[in-house]
Amino acid sequence: MHLRNALRILLSTTLLLATSPAFSQAGAAKHTQAAVLAIQADQSIAKVSPTLYGLMTEEINHAYDGGLYAELIRNRAMQRDPSFVPNWLPLPEWPLVQRGTARATVTLDAKDGPSAALTRSLQLAVQQADATNTVGVRNDGFWGIPLQPNTTYTGSLFAKASADAASPLTLRLVNNNTGAVIASAQINTLAKDWKQYPFTLKTGAIAASADNHFELTVAHAGTYWFDLVSLFPPTYNNTPNGNRVDLMQKMAAMHPAFLRLPGGNYVEGNTIAERFRWRQTLGPLVDRPTHMSPWGYRSSDGLGLLEFLEWCEDLHMQPVLAVYAGYSLRGEHVAPGKDLQPYVQSALDEIEYVSGGVNTRWGAERAKDGHPAPFPLTYVEVGNEDNFDKSNSYDGRFAQFYDAIRKQYPHLQIIATAPVKSRTPDVLDEHYYRSAQDFFNDAHHYDHTDRKGPKIFVGEWATMEGTPTPNMDAALSDAAWMTGLERNSDLVVMAAYAPLLVNVNPMAMQWVPNLIGYDALRSYGSPSYYAQVLFSNHLGTEVSATTLSGANPRLYESVTRDAAKGILYVKIVNAASAAQPLQIQIAGVHAIDSHAHLYELRGHSAEETNTLDTPTRITPVSSTIAGVASQFTRTIPPTSISVFEIHYH
Ligand code: AHR
Repeated sequence: MHLRNALRILLSTTLLLATSPAFSQAGAAKHTQAAVLAIQADQSIAKVSPTLYGLMTEEINHAYDGGLYAELIRNRAMQRDPSFVPNWLPLPEWPLVQRGTARATVTLDAKDGPSAALTRSLQLAVQQADATNTVGVRNDGFWGIPLQPNTTYTGSLFAKASADAASPLTLRLVNNNTGAVIASAQINTLAKDWKQYPFTLKTGAIAASADNHFELTVAHAGTYWFDLVSLFPPTYNNTPNGNRVDLMQKMAAMHPAFLRLPGGNYVEGNTIAERFRWRQTLGPLVDRPTHMSPWGYRSSDGLGLLEFLEWCEDLHMQPVLAVYAGYSLRGEHVAPGKDLQPYVQSALDEIEYVSGGVNTRWGAERAKDGHPAPFPLTYVEVGNEDNFDKSNSYDGRFAQFYDAIRKQYPHLQIIATAPVKSRTPDVLDEHYYRSAQDFFNDAHHYDHTDRKGPKIFVGEWATMEGTPTPNMDAALSDAAWMTGLERNSDLVVMAAYAPLLVNVNPMAMQWVPNLIGYDALRSYGSPSYYAQVLFSNHLGTEVSATTLSGANPRLYESVTRDAAKGILYVKIVNAASAAQPLQIQIAGVHAIDSHAHLYELRGHSAEETNTLDTPTRITPVSSTIAGVASQFTRTIPPTSISVFEIHYH
């Protein structure tokens, strides 16, 4: 090292030590000169959107069935899609169980079901069976049936039996490895017509495991029909037909402001016929026909429109309602004009179902479904990614939806999914799936965007790094990108990472990476999840003016304050592999508490990540730091995201 440089570093180090009581951290400023982040706390450059961070989900990666929606039985409605499972193959998920000398066949009865919506059923034709030689079907759930000790599981099924089928029906939960019966229940007789039979299964002192299956057996010859076989564990808030507790808790910790529902390709469907038909997702489960999702499997629609809205209510989010806008993924579209009118009317009805009073037609339907109170609604999104519509019909389609919605609901904010010329949307939904490098390089994307156009909803975005969930590098680039969203949240009113949920069983996922991973029993948040938690929980209400100088090119910052609470939130992302000493200068406040909270998310390498087996390898560490003043220095660790919560007067 040149002598003059050495002297300069020595001098600046001495200076920093003298001005900063917090500068006792090992290694600080040994390698790099301190950068300076100058904060003018009272100079507000933008309002922070209170709805900035929210959720976007859809039925992908078994996000609902086999994920958030707590149903444990797979293919409960006995569906077989000939394009996926040809007729000569057995009915999916319901193999035969035969014991001893029992004999039976299982088929799909395509002509008999319990309702107009469910018109087919599983037919079990038993030639021979008795009390010791039982026969029936099993279901392995969504990659196992997760069971906890001393827990009650609530089930029901629709069934009927031929006159000669004089058998009780036995329902059991069985361990796959030991064959042990963990819980069992009996329905004594089955009527000859369709009827719903409730049951409960209670576990004892077992070890929690997902290596279990569900069995349904009889002990007498005859013909039996079954449909809508359902089994639920305790759910979030103990809501019937409700959601998985651990996943709801993980989302709750993100303090999301909104839920885009139903998000992404799910609203469009592969074809017009397979679009999200909201009316068919309402009411008793037996009245929901189910539908094919664009991600290669059928959706039970147990998590339907009302359940989406109740999910919003549970997590104190507002719905961002996406309506089908006449374009589906394989390129089918509905021409604007009279052909599109029924779809526009359907959107108006849907809005009324969500937000109308009980004196409206669809508000009354919602009340009949069990929720008289209207849901608050501010945003309606017209379609999804309509930039992919090669017919160029979106301009016309959007205008038709826009005019009708604006006329009936003038207070609603209308979101376009692609730039349009025919009308000026209130908000434009932009999607970014990018490499870490691209997000690092574009963290200032919105800094100079014209404020005269529509507001921006970054309705889907993610760093595409890590499988099945993002690694630390992705979390850093996500956080770098979020500093830009936050600094510009006068313009960017909402943003949502996508996809949110993934069942990590290899056959379950269609997309990587995703924010939260799980199997039947366990779940974990990725480093990117914790970056979201950190940002969302320390939002602030105004963006303070800052200048950053002398930092490595991979250092990103955003400073907000909550003036009413007297808190400054200083977010620093150091994506470099070297520590960065940083002098933080705070002007524009009277006094600063000498102790602050620091939340730090740190990886040992860019590739480090969390998994089901190591769910908390990378999680935020919180501490109280001393020596905070109008000028203080901290060493920001390499590959880290730091949030300083500084109280001032
Ligand atoms: O998030 C996954 C998919 O990405 C969404 O369904 C779609 O909107 C986007 O192309």
